[in-house]
Order: sequence, then C-alpha cells, then structure tokens
Amino acid sequence: MSRKSFPDGFFWGVATSAQQIEGSARGGGRGESIWDFFASAPGNIEDGSGPWTACDHYRRWREDVEWMKWLGAHAYRFSISWPRVFPRGWGEPNRAGLDFYDALVDGLLDAGITPFPTLNHWDLPQALQDGGGWPNRKTVDAFLEYTGRVCERLGDRVDHWTTHNEPWCIATLGYEEGRHAPGHRNPEEALATAHHLLLSHGRSAAEIRRIVPGAKVGIVLNLSPAWPATDCEADRDAARWFDGFFNRWYLDPLFRGRYPEDAIADRVANGHLPKGGLPFLQDGDLEEICTPLDFLGVNYYSRTVLQAGRDGRPVGVAAVPEKELDEMGWEVFPRGLYDILLRVHREYGPPALYITENGTALPDEPDEEGEVRDERRIDYMRRHLAEAHRAVESGVPLRGYFAWSLLDNFEWGHGYGKRFGLLRVDFATGERTAKESARWYRETIAANAVDIREQSSSSRREP
Ligand code: FCB
Repeated sequence: MSRKSFPDGFFWGVATSAQQIEGSARGGGRGESIWDFFASAPGNIEDGSGPWTACDHYRRWREDVEWMKWLGAHAYRFSISWPRVFPRGWGEPNRAGLDFYDALVDGLLDAGITPFPTLNHWDLPQALQDGGGWPNRKTVDAFLEYTGRVCERLGDRVDHWTTHNEPWCIATLGYEEGRHAPGHRNPEEALATAHHLLLSHGRSAAEIRRIVPGAKVGIVLNLSPAWPATDCEADRDAARWFDGFFNRWYLDPLFRGRYPEDAIADRVANGHLPKGGLPFLQDGDLEEICTPLDFLGVNYYSRTVLQAGRDGRPVGVAAVPEKELDEMGWEVFPRGLYDILLRVHREYGPPALYITENGTALPDEPDEEGEVRDERRIDYMRRHLAEAHRAVESGVPLRGYFAWSLLDNFEWGHGYGKRFGLLRVDFATGERTAKESARWYRETIAANAVDIREQSSSSRREP
C-alpha cells in the first residue's frame, strides 16, 4: 500500500440527479417530464418501474444533507428539475419548485457543503417535448428562460453552475437509439438535438454570467477513450469513428468552435447528414457555443473497444477476454480515466477539470447483519482515484471528484435494479443505510488521500 495525497482544496463530493432521486412527481406543483411520460409506456423501463417516487428525496432532503455532512463531503452535485420550475415549459415559474431548491441550497451551506447544481440532467418538461423537444430550436429559448429564473433565485448563494449533463446521451440514446426518453429513432433529430444542446449551453453560460457575477460555469460530458479491438487498419478506423461521434462531436465545438471534419464526413457517408452542410447550423452559433468555460466536468465509467462494422458504423465489443464487468455490463478500466483526463488537458486545455461522476453498480445485498459489504466498490474507487492522482501528478488541473452516487436510485431505462449508491436505499420504506464504501469514502475525504494497493490496478490489461 502507498498513500497518495491530493492537493489542498481538492473538492470531494457526491452526485445525484433530480429525476433519479426526488420522487413527488406531481408534488409541489411539478409538471410532467419526458421521463415520467416515457416510463409510463409498458416496456420502456426494464423492471416495469418509474421515477415517480424514487428515493423520496423531495421530502427527505434534510436527512440526505445530514448524510453528506456525516460523509464530510465538500460539495454536492445535484440537478434542478426543469419541470418542477416550469411545469408547462413556459410561462410563470412554479414558486414551490424554486422554494425547494432555495431551501436545499441553504441547508447545504449551513452544513458547509458547496452546492454544484446542473440545470439539465435529462428531465425535459413533457410540454416542451410536445412542442418538438430538443430537435426544435425553440427549446433553446425555453432553456434560457429557465436558466435566468433559477439564477435570479439562487445566484446570490451558488457560484458553480453546470448547464447540461451528458449531451451525447440526450441526443443519441434519446433521439437516435430510442433507449432513453423520448424514445425516438431518428438520426437527424439526434444531430439537431446535439447542436441545440450545445447552443443552449453557450447562451445559458452567458446568461449565468450576466446574472451571477463571478460564477464558474461548465458543462458535463461523458467521455470514453476509444480502443481498437485489434491493430488492423479497419479497427483503428472504427475507433476514430467512435471518438468523432462520441467525444469530439462535443469537445471540438465547445473548445474549437467547429465540428470535426472527419466525423461530419462519416455522417454524410451514412446518410445522416446531407452533403455540404449541417442543416441545423446558423450564422454565429459556433461562436456562441465556444464561449470560454471555467471548468469541464468529465463523467467517466469505461473505455469503449471497437471493431469495424458492416454499415460504416463500428461496433463496440464487450467480449474482451478477462474483462472485469459491473452490473451494467460496463468494463472496469481505471486507466481510461487517466488517459481521457490527460488527453482533454493536452488537446483542449480547459482551465479546470472535475470528475463529475464515477462509480459502479453492484448487487449490494445486505448480509445477515444487515451490512452491505461492497469491497468491490471500494476497490473500484481506490483504483480510479489512483488514476486521478496520477493525472494530477502529470499536471492536469483536476480540482475535484464526485462519486456517483450518494444514493441507490432510479437508473433510467434499468429502473431500480442497478445500485450505484454509497448509501443503500430500501425502496419500500425509503430508509437509507451506509454501505461499507460510504465509510471508506468518509475516511478518504478526511485524509484527503487514498491508499493504493500497487497490485490492484488493471491498467496494464490490454484489449
Ligand atoms: C450517467 C448519468 C447518471 C447515471 C450514471 C450511471 O450516464 O449521468 O445519471 O445514470 O450514468
């Protein structure tokens, strides 16, 4: 074991999102979200459940703040529910919704915890979807209106602001693959969605800065290093394809003010884009999108191993021999965290980076004594933090780490079966109990250091 200390002032946090924990779907004047609507159609959620009660955080938030205080968390990354603030998407905001976040922010500050809100963690008001959703450019205006109202209310106490969480998931899983709300299968819609998310990010960033002087503004991307399954040229090209589609499609406009040429050509080749242009792009959009960021949030779960596919679109390979998989079927690959942080730092140079999500889903059954002994989660976090530490040593301006998640919660299309929490939630009663990983994380935060087992890293495992 060797002990690695993090820099003074390193932010240790926990993360959640509104739709996954709040419940009270119709409580306090909240409107319907696309996830409430999507989940009500049979077959969309694996276990037939929905997000309507979730962890009941809307009513139990004080207890959750107490848990974070017990953990010693410095910061809490949560999201604001757009349909709680604008139940019908437009018009007058819902006072009770804004009051809820106002009280939560005060509760966090009283507990010495920095609020780190995200404005959009996927729960678009269904009313806006009825008007066309993200493929419709008008949704950008609605997001701006929502940003303004939230900032006016919380801006005197909140200085870290995130616009969107994981635009790739919204665009691709929601509008192209149909696995997430709103469940569409339309690649043109997905590309327009990605653009409108980026544009609304740029506009919202300007609006936040106008209302909250000194605000630190960022966006959260899910990034995944692309590995060719073999060294053959076709597989290497598959990895390039995926990198363009998944990582650079967002990084390049945000940091360089342009979409990646090779990825545009890929989309023209497979018929998702017309020859000679991006139909959704208007003059001035890219300048607005590449407004300087104060930080980039990186959600890291895994790498992606690729091989050439038949239709010009590569396929991901799960069946790498000796892969260590979690309950999501995601490969545990800590070294990918180091790789992606270093790459973003070198190629795009954001002034600060946060790991805004990292965690693992495990079966997490309590033993006879009622304890969840989740050693695998501890090992997972230890190994990822070792890579985060290595990134700091290599000069990456990494300012913090948020564990996903504080609580077991509603894991989107999977329902409640995938448990990511440091705290176990009994969904029948709402009761929270600390897993062993919560106690371990508490000690890690207190020490501002992680003990690393030299042998535990899978970093030398190749595809
Ligand atoms: C991310 C999401 C988050 C959670 C984790 C497991 O893609 O941002 O809400 O579902 O995956």
